[in-house]
Amino acid sequence: MRVRVDPRGFAFDADPGQTLLRAADAAGVQLPSSCRNGTCRTCICQLRAGQVRHTIDWPGLSAEEKSDGWILPCVAEPLSDVVLDLPAAFSVFDD
Ligand code: FES
Repeated sequence: MRVRVDPRGFAFDADPGQTLLRAADAAGVQLPSSCRNGTCRTCICQLRAGQVRHTIDWPGLSAEEKSDGWILPCVAEPLSDVVLDLPAAFSVFDD
């Protein structure tokens, strides 16, 4: 699956069963994170396109937030190509 992180347009692949945060790590793209287990909400972002599934039953999101497109990339696996809106992301390969 292809992952794009806007607005800066970072793009990388995620393997099946790999969370968006791990896939970003592997590609040298830094997303905000702390707990990495779906509770602290540091990584929260908007899913602009595509579909994900959360790997835990009760990620730290309300039903309303979920329906508004908020996801937690540390516990979200892509089910399709996805586009995230995450202005705080940066690449370790940038100057
Ligand atoms: S890093 Fe804590 S919820 Fe994702």
